[in-house]
Amino acid sequence: MWDYTDKVYDHFRNPRNVGEVENPDGVGEVGSLACGDALRLTFKLGEDGRIRDAKFQTFGCASAIASSSALTEMIKGKTLEEAKAITNQDIADFLGGLPEEKMHCSVMGQEALEAAIADYRGERRVKEQEDIVCKCFGITGREIERVVRESGLKTVEQVTHYTKAGGGCMSCHPQIEEILNRILAEDPDRKAVRGAAGRKLTNLQKIKLIQETMEREIQPSLKKDGGDIELIDIEGDTVYVGLRGTCSSCPASEFTLKNYVETKLREFVSPEITVEEVTS
Ligand code: FES
Repeated sequence: MWDYTDKVYDHFRNPRNVGEVENPDGVGEVGSLACGDALRLTFKLGEDGRIRDAKFQTFGCASAIASSSALTEMIKGKTLEEAKAITNQDIADFLGGLPEEKMHCSVMGQEALEAAIADYRGERRVKEQEDIVCKCFGITGREIERVVRESGLKTVEQVTHYTKAGGGCMSCHPQIEEILNRILAEDPDRKAVRGAAGRKLTNLQKIKLIQETMEREIQPSLKKDGGDIELIDIEGDTVYVGLRGTCSSCPASEFTLKNYVETKLREFVSPEITVEEVTS
């Protein structure tokens, strides 16, 4: 049983503004029944340019109903600019908080509102198919990045709670970790993320993450100095590599392996990683 606030229960049991506004000015639809949650939001503007009426129809759990109900209450009387400034956290706060595992309901409300405003403005919101990170739930990298930034998320598990991304087959976890790590790199104080944040990686996920980290974080720097590194093998937490080019004859190669390569892999993959050189 979820630990809902009284206000969540109230909006779940007595949802406000259920239905569809007649001749709406804006319509926003997000989610899909296949994914277990869907929300349709409609609004009508008054002559003063403020939202005169807003209604919702949803298929989802108690927190989805409560979040949608809260959202419609929150946006009535607001201009579109004011409404657009409402974040998913504002929706959760309005309800006195939501369990973290249910935060995706508030995110869905925020996205439905955005979609409805875009519809009113004649902007087409087409999901960038090439940017889909989580195929199971159709979540784009842009959506993940936004919620990571806005809500200060630090782990893949949190991203799943807020967006559902990663909650199916888990094959998108390395990509989600990449997004988290990229944002962490911009602001090291956030102390994010990744496999190193304690989630147990499968062998396949670990190998992919090691390969990606080497390609993105390590090889470009070594290549700048005429060197290179090759992944030879992985056994448990030991990564075997071969140094190439100028790196192979560099007297500081041991330093490079331990203080650069190993440090990067520990940062982005797992703190348990050790790197060993294979010389031919
Ligand atoms: S692709 Fe994201 S959970 Fe399957």
